Amino acid sequence: MYKLLTIIGARPQIIKAAALSRAIKNNFCDRFEENILHTGQHYDENMSAVFFDEMGIPQPDYNLNVGSGSHGVQTAKMIEGIEKVLLSDNFDSLVVYGDTNSTLAGAIAASKIHIPIFHIEAGLRSFNMSMPEEINRIMCDQVSSLLFSPTQTGIDNLMKEGFINDEKIYFKNGKGRKVFLSGDIMYDNSLYYSDIVGDKIDTLEKYGLTPSNYILATIHRDNNTDNPERLESIICALLYIAESKNIKVIIPLHPRTSKLLSKNLSENIYKKLINSEEIILAEPASFFQMIELEKNAKIIMTDSGGVQKESYFFKKPCIILRPETEWVEIVDEGAGVVVDADYDRIIKGYDEMVSKEIKYPQIFGDGHSAEFMLGKMGEYFER
Ligand code: UD1
Repeated sequence: MYKLLTIIGARPQIIKAAALSRAIKNNFCDRFEENILHTGQHYDENMSAVFFDEMGIPQPDYNLNVGSGSHGVQTAKMIEGIEKVLLSDNFDSLVVYGDTNSTLAGAIAASKIHIPIFHIEAGLRSFNMSMPEEINRIMCDQVSSLLFSPTQTGIDNLMKEGFINDEKIYFKNGKGRKVFLSGDIMYDNSLYYSDIVGDKIDTLEKYGLTPSNYILATIHRDNNTDNPERLESIICALLYIAESKNIKVIIPLHPRTSKLLSKNLSENIYKKLINSEEIILAEPASFFQMIELEKNAKIIMTDSGGVQKESYFFKKPCIILRPETEWVEIVDEGAGVVVDADYDRIIKGYDEMVSKEIKYPQIFGDGHSAEFMLGKMGEYFER
């Protein structure tokens, strides 16, 4: 039996971890014992607890309750807590997801005490070093033993950085690092939970929306929310589209965005936004609500990485509110367009994407990436 410690902390990691836990329970319970550590990076009820309840995930075995803070303070508290837990028991490896501060903290804590790290969502690069996530993912990849990339682009990035066939890199246990194209674990979950959510339309009813007749928008990246000019440009473009095309826009608000709208928008735009008949400022959505909103939207606008992919899974065009994306295949397939926070490009992007024929070939795996990864983790221990 191999003991895994899985680190979660931010909202999407709770969702992703559910797929691996489910695969362990269903197919690998004789080989792996999993413990879950929640760093407490996300702590609001609707940013954390709601996902455990809704998705039936067991409560974490450890909770560090670190809460918010500067990057240094938040990450440091996590490193200390994760190290303590790792030293308190004989964990065979650490599993981390994606690119948040919780991911980086796990990678630093485990690598220093020579516990092998399995990085799920490895190899992604935006090449924008001003994003905290880019720093986190590069550092985590460097110290990981198994790197699971969801896409071929991720594999190509790792090859360019010399990760593959680099026999010189080995860890204290004498084992080298390995890179796999695994498919996307979020795709596993979107398929699984989409069936469970079915076609229910409670969330649409709650907000007075009708299928295919609204825009779903999410904005939470610090370079959008914390920069008044960018935030205002995005909101003005949304107001223009909503009014001129007579379409509703629902924005489930990340707590960061809620706090900054009144502070960073000019007074008249803030007033226009909160009084708009077309724009709905909603609470953060649960995963099931998000699936329902994504499945029924006409088009999705987002600065989130996860929501970009979910747009693709549910065959919805995506307007990407960032200067670049690490999910380049979505753009290559013509299913997404990068518009940054540029007022004109957002409006032009909307006009272009609403009328476009898009094919959505299957580029994120077969929905069984968790089983694939667990198989490779087993081989790692046995070799
Ligand atoms: C983090 C990740 C980001 C990921 C996102 C998913 C990093 C660097 N970023 O961003 O990659 O896409 O999670 O949602 O790790 N806050 C609350 N309540 C909460 C959580 C946050 O009020 O439960 C507020 C606080 O003001 C906090 C701010 O949101 O300071 C930012 O939270 P933080 O966890 O630092 O980063 P996210 O923006 O959520």
